Amino acid sequence: MSRVQEITRENWIMSTFPEWGTWLNEEIEDEVIQPGNVGMWWLGCTGLWVKTPNDCNITIDLWCGNGKRTHGNGKMQVGHQMANMCGARKMQPNLRAVPFVIDPFAIKKVDAVLATHYHQDHMSVEYAAHVVQSKMTTVDENGNEIPVPFIGPKKSVELWLKWGVPKEQCITVKPGDVIKMKDIEIVALDSFDRTCLVTTDSQGEDREELTGICPTDMDDKAVNFLIKTPGGNIYHSGDSHYSIYFAKHGKDYDIDVAFGSYGENPVGMADKMTSCDILRMAEALRCKVVIPIHYDVWTNFMADVNEIKVLYEMKKDRLDYQFHPFFWEVGGKYIYPADKEKKAYHHPRGFEDCFEAPQNIPFRSCL
Ligand SMILES: [Fe+2]
Repeated sequence: MSRVQEITRENWIMSTFPEWGTWLNEEIEDEVIQPGNVGMWWLGCTGLWVKTPNDCNITIDLWCGNGKRTHGNGKMQVGHQMANMCGARKMQPNLRAVPFVIDPFAIKKVDAVLATHYHQDHMSVEYAAHVVQSKMTTVDENGNEIPVPFIGPKKSVELWLKWGVPKEQCITVKPGDVIKMKDIEIVALDSFDRTCLVTTDSQGEDREELTGICPTDMDDKAVNFLIKTPGGNIYHSGDSHYSIYFAKHGKDYDIDVAFGSYGENPVGMADKMTSCDILRMAEALRCKVVIPIHYDVWTNFMADVNEIKVLYEMKKDRLDYQFHPFFWEVGGKYIYPADKEKKAYHHPRGFEDCFEAPQNIPFRSCL
């Protein structure tokens, strides 16, 4: 049969998706983290892979889904958190804007699965299925072999249980809780994700009525994480909005690298931190490096990191900033503190071995 006769939509999808195949899986597996460092990879949205010198591997908010793929009826569901927030009824045009850089089913080992909250772009049923089906294990702080734990706030654990993750494999955390494993310590902290506060269990015409109701406890819905590692302390703020309480976290903990959810909020929305908020968060947390994330993923929230750079340059001297921003790329690697002085990331450019093998050109004047 000819090529054009045998090609189908299905084999096109299988040969093209996920876009990066197992490239990043292999890179993470092969990377050996030097003593006194910590390795991080951006998995898209707020997804982060953390790897330590003792080969402790954890993921935070690894998610494998996408957004709108059809115009459908053009409507947003009544009771959706965005509809709750601003009273809109037109479909939100949030299409996924970044490739899939990791294959969740090709992950060979991980020591813990963390989620900051239960919104759809922060948890993955596919990844959970793979971890459970392949019976992945790790060792607890006493050296006992245990199934890989799923760690998150109450509502995240409820979702994992609904998907069929065994109860004994789930750990519900609240701000202040500490979990030790291998050479890391996971500290759960307060979240400031006010979009989570207007998220209800029921959607549609029987939506839960929130008007005049005192908000439910944020601690059940979302947490921030501080990951203490041999290379420094990493602060993952999930989808937190700006809060003056970042300053308390900055006083309570030494924070090296802080991640903040940045985005260009559409008119009528207050869901992501602005450029100004990202700088205020970094200053309050007293971190050394701040890294904006999440702005990559939704077409309707995409933002320009140069806005952060311009504001930073304007304010850093007068406010005596002790941090600098680092602008990353999805799928990129960042080793701390080895890469501490870097200001922006570029994917490996290749061709380092140019002119080391014989060329094959008609004349050198072609070059
Ligand atoms: Fe999000």
